[in-house]
Order: sequence, then C-alpha cells, then structure tokens
Amino acid sequence: MVQVKVQWTSLLLSLLVLTVIPIILGFTFEMVTKDGLKSPASMSTMPGITTIECSVKCAQTPGCYGFSWLHGLCRFFNSSSFFVSLSSSSSKLSVYKLVNANKKLSLVGCKNSATRQSYVCTKAMDGNREQNDVSFCSVTMRSSNQWWKAQLSAPSQVEYLTIYNRIKNAELLNTFNLLVDGVECNRVNLTEPFSIANFGCNAFGSKVRVVNQLYTHLILCEVEIYGY
Ligand SMILES: *[C@@H]1O[C@H](CO)[C@@H](O)[C@H](O)[C@H]1NC(C)=O
Ligand SMILES: *[C@@H]1O[C@H](CO)[C@@H](O)[C@H](O)[C@H]1NC(C)=O
Repeated sequence: MVQVKVQWTSLLLSLLVLTVIPIILGFTFEMVTKDGLKSPASMSTMPGITTIECSVKCAQTPGCYGFSWLHGLCRFFNSSSFFVSLSSSSSKLSVYKLVNANKKLSLVGCKNSATRQSYVCTKAMDGNREQNDVSFCSVTMRSSNQWWKAQLSAPSQVEYLTIYNRIKNAELLNTFNLLVDGVECNRVNLTEPFSIANFGCNAFGSKVRVVNQLYTHLILCEVEIYGY
C-alpha cells in the first residue's frame, strides 16, 4: 500500500521526497489500484502536475473522496462513484482514495416503521453482525415502504453504509433507498442479492434512513455508517 500524505506548508519539500509527505490538512490518501483500466466516474477535473498536487486539491474540494491522475489532469470522484460505479479507461491509471477521513459514526438511537415481534430496530446497530440467525436482526412487518432510521450522535458527512443482510431470503433487500435527513442520497436496485456490501451516500445530516422499495419485510442484521 502506497500512502501519500499531503501537507500544505511542506508541499514543495514533498515534491522532492515523493514517498511520504507530511502535511497539515490531516488527509492521507492511499493508492487502491495501480495502473488499472477502471476508475470511478469523475465528478470534476483539474490540471495537476503530480499526484501530490491532485491530493491537495482533492482535500480542498467538498465531497472529493479520491482521485486518479493521468497526463497532467486530476480526476476527482466522490464516494458514491467509488463504491458503485467503476467505468473503463482507455489508458492505465492509478486510483487514490482518502484513508483517514471516514470513521464509523456512532449511533445513539433508532426507529423503524413497524417492528415484527421482538426484532427491534436496535438489533441492526448493536455491534452483532450475525447474518444467519434472524433473532439478531431488525425486522419490520411485511408491507410497502418499510423503513429503519438511525440517529447519529452528531450531524456528520455520511459517506457510505455497510449493510449486513440476512443470508436467507437476501433478495428481500434488493431494492431500497438511502436518505439523510429526509433527502435521498442513493437508490439501490440490484439484480443479484448481496450478503455484506457498502452503499455510497455522500450527504450531510444526522438521521439516516433505509427504505425498502419492495412490498416485504425490511430485515437488517447490522448497519454501520461511515463518514466524518
Ligand atoms: C457522485 O459523482 C457522480 C459522477 O460525477 C455523480 O453522478 C453523482 O451525482 C455524485 N453523487 C453525489 C452524491 O454527489
Ligand atoms: C429495478 O430494476 C428492474 C429491472 O432490472 C425494474 O423492472 C424495476 O422497476 C426497478 N425498480 C426500481 C424501484 O427502480
């Protein structure tokens, strides 16, 4: 893993010492793909002579989660496109992403649309990731638009959610929306069921909601919310 740390004041010095660059902004980038042919869809581009210059500019760009560099151009991408959409590139490029910005956000409460039996909403945020035994999962009644909502301890930039799905009947969670403070940040419609996956969000707020778009139960064995 190649790490590039960017610090404002020592940028010039950094250019001379290419391996590890100390910086003030406190952002660290790591190379996640070297000379690959795929990269996340870019949200913006900016000229940049080096990857270090791209990392400084990314750190200053709201929503920038990482970048790739090719022929003097930095391509910035957000966390949604990093987690959901990789597009092909005609030239080989290396992809970098932020490492120390995201941490697991602490959740202080939850609600759901309608609890089934004793499968209360807190079972999706109790730190138990068991996916086989449904008694460790939050389960709602079977209906339309069943939801689960978590309250963050403080308003935060919600970058992505890691969802631990129930192994059995995983297809019940193929089509759902994510919202932060009532505003949709991702619409998920999968063709194959998942077991554990990350879903980008990239929105700021303090309430995070998962809404099932299928007429069924909403079953969540664990939800971890990452951001900063
Ligand atoms: C992330 O970037 C992609 C590609 O530019 C864009 O389509 C999408 O709307 C962005 N998502 C967010 C949440 O900003
Ligand atoms: C999900 O995708 C399927 C086709 O793959 C489509 O029939 C369905 O309407 C989509 N559902 C939503 C909620 O977008």
